Amino acid sequence: KRLALFASGRGSNGEALYKAMQEGYINGEFVVIITDHGDAGIVERSKPWNIPLIVIERSDYDSKASFEKAQLDALEPYKIDGIVLAGYMRIVGAQLIEYYEHRILNIHPALLPSFPGLHGHQQAIDAGVKVTGCTVHFVDAGMDTGPIIMQNTVPLLPEDTEDTLSDRLLPIEHKTYKEALRLFCEDKLTIKGRVVYIED
Ligand code: GRF
Repeated sequence: KRLALFASGRGSNGEALYKAMQEGYINGEFVVIITDHGDAGIVERSKPWNIPLIVIERSDYDSKASFEKAQLDALEPYKIDGIVLAGYMRIVGAQLIEYYEHRILNIHPALLPSFPGLHGHQQAIDAGVKVTGCTVHFVDAGMDTGPIIMQNTVPLLPEDTEDTLSDRLLPIEHKTYKEALRLFCEDKLTIKGRVVYIED
């Protein structure tokens, strides 16, 4: 599949997925990268990949709708089959969701539907849960509410901080996202209501 990568930050998930594509584990390719931060880590990190990267910053547009239209227009020539959000820190607009319905994936650093939104790690720590994890899901109009594709867990230790927990969780995120995207690229995911069925 032809995929767009959306990232706002350091881009470690994007890189794990890129490598899995290079190794042939995922039958897909990133054909364009879109970031909403010109100074995001993903910009430097992805340079050796030679994939077109487009910076579309919210502050350059006077409305959410025109910002979103710019994203849609930027994607159009690439004829993508799906969008991979990896550390993309904005709510995806309604037009994009409609246009790419059931073709946008996201990773969240908690076990949804618990702890959606920002600071998923800290929310889990504050709640005192003993197990947390990550969730790869399809994106719908809500905040981290779309149908769940895959989850994996890690223990949450009493002395954990946001940093220690995110260090423990990050490799699990990479593994989970690789598996989920592999299945998506092989058309093995079917959504029925809130449930994603995996064909074997
Ligand atoms: C990850 O923890 C991801 O779950 C969250 O943002 C972080 C992105 O990390 N949505 P990276 O940019 O992929 O390194």
